[in-house]
Amino acid sequence: MSTAFDHPEYNYKVVRQFAIMTVVWGIVGMAVGVLIAAQLAWPALNFDTPWLSFGRLRPLHTNAVIFAFGGSALFATSYYIVQRTCRTRLFSDTLASFTFWGWQLVIVLAAITLPLGMTSAKEYAELEWPIDILVAVVWVAYLVNFLGTIAIRKESHIYVANWFFAAMIIMIAILYVVNNAAMPVTFTKSYSAYAGTVDAMIQWWWGHNAVGFFLTAGFLGIMYYFVPKQAGRPVYSYRLSIVHFWALISIYVWAGGHHLHYSALPDWAQTAGMVMSLILLAPSWGGMINGMMTLSGAWHKLRNDPILRFLVVSLSFYGMSTFEGPMMSIKTVNALSHNTDWTIGHVHSGALGWVAMVSIGALYHLIPIMFGRKAGDMYSISLINVHFWLSTIGTVLYIAALWVNGIMQGLMWRAVNDDGTLTYSFVESVEASHGGYVVRTIGGLLFLIGMFIMAYNVYMTVKAANKEAGAAAPAQA
Ligand code: HEM
Ligand code: HEM
Repeated sequence: MSTAFDHPEYNYKVVRQFAIMTVVWGIVGMAVGVLIAAQLAWPALNFDTPWLSFGRLRPLHTNAVIFAFGGSALFATSYYIVQRTCRTRLFSDTLASFTFWGWQLVIVLAAITLPLGMTSAKEYAELEWPIDILVAVVWVAYLVNFLGTIAIRKESHIYVANWFFAAMIIMIAILYVVNNAAMPVTFTKSYSAYAGTVDAMIQWWWGHNAVGFFLTAGFLGIMYYFVPKQAGRPVYSYRLSIVHFWALISIYVWAGGHHLHYSALPDWAQTAGMVMSLILLAPSWGGMINGMMTLSGAWHKLRNDPILRFLVVSLSFYGMSTFEGPMMSIKTVNALSHNTDWTIGHVHSGALGWVAMVSIGALYHLIPIMFGRKAGDMYSISLINVHFWLSTIGTVLYIAALWVNGIMQGLMWRAVNDDGTLTYSFVESVEASHGGYVVRTIGGLLFLIGMFIMAYNVYMTVKAANKEAGAAAPAQA
């Protein structure tokens, strides 16, 4: 069905659909995040109900925020950028629509099966085999549509954002299929095709590259289009973007071993993971610096453009988390940080500070265009500003609380008395973490409130756009 907002040349419908669902799934995923954060502070909130318990809701949270929220943001922006920078319509409208409905079906199936306790028990790959097959089919359709659009482009040059998206789509297809290889025993239960240490190694080859490609390369694609657009400046160094692209994608795939320090993984593989992680700092900061420096001559715009603020602050969090990650991959540091809340804080400085904030900035730029208005012409700019501060303060509270908790836990667990016995029991470290959990819940809640404000702002923007479209075309009414 065509609407008043259809573009004569591009397929904006699928962008619109994914953009709106990004906001919806963001709220759902983060609301579950706030609930599980509160459960860690007040365990009574598990309500003694299996499907409301932390163990089942945690994978629901991770799947909802990474794949439903993050995934929808990637689909929306990549479909938008590839059309604009290749000056051509998507390769196939049918495939576009299939990817939208297929992805939503995956999300709904995940939201039903995970709370019911159906899981393959592999982190970030919990979905059972029938859903995995659906994910693979939808993802391949995405791959064909994206690369097909590049193939029929009317612009000879392939803009760097598309390189990042293409790398993300190709690598995720390979990693997903290999890591999810399993032997089904029933419709809802399967066992991994790998065993023991090999299973762990393949799992973290996936796990780390889900970070490297899904949560990093894809969002760098977003950064490379929307930062220059919103700042009204060309990318600082196009050469740097190409160099750090190749360096990033060729180094990320070797770093997964840092998730398995002091495990049964051969020692050389752990050390290789550590060394590659340290090297990874350079290409990661290459992207961060390139984004930041794009603002040269346009820094004053930060004073009254909260959309640009979202984008720039997201880059700072990206720089921070990609400094912290290599430090945590050093074996002696990891001996302190592993299994503590420090890891969770690191995750969310990347996830909230980088992934969510760069997506939010991009959406504020893009959504008005999808509804026939100018870039960034949202219903209320001051509400975007309120959202920006809630997100920034929320993220800082979240990660600061968990740095304190994490380092305290690591130190308490390794403290020994003169006679060699442990100074603290595990329960004492849990009790000592309570304050941090409360602060983290408050930080998450602030971030979530910001998302509700965004939903209201989007709703009012669409309402106003509908009114304008109705007034502009009374004859068609
Ligand atoms: C309102 C915002 C959010 C809150 C309150 C929140 C809260 C939480 C909590 C309580 C956990 C479990 C921690 C634990 O087991 O100790 C968690 C895990 C996780 N969350 Fe979030 N989260 C939020 C947003 C996000 C977003 C936007 C993303 C990704 C884009 C994300 C990705 C993750 C990941 C990957 C994990 C697993 C971390 C690990 O296993 O090390 N979260 N979150
Ligand atoms: C140069 C870049 C990075 C390096 C070298 C790195 C390194 C690390 C290390 C060493 C850990 C702890 C592993 C452990 O002790 O179990 C970790 C955990 C994690 N990092 Fe990063 N990190 C980087 C960037 C990022 C970014 C940008 C994000 C998010 C957008 C992210 C998301 C995660 C997640 C989700 C985990 C938790 C995995 C789990 O145990 O479930 N990382 N990272």
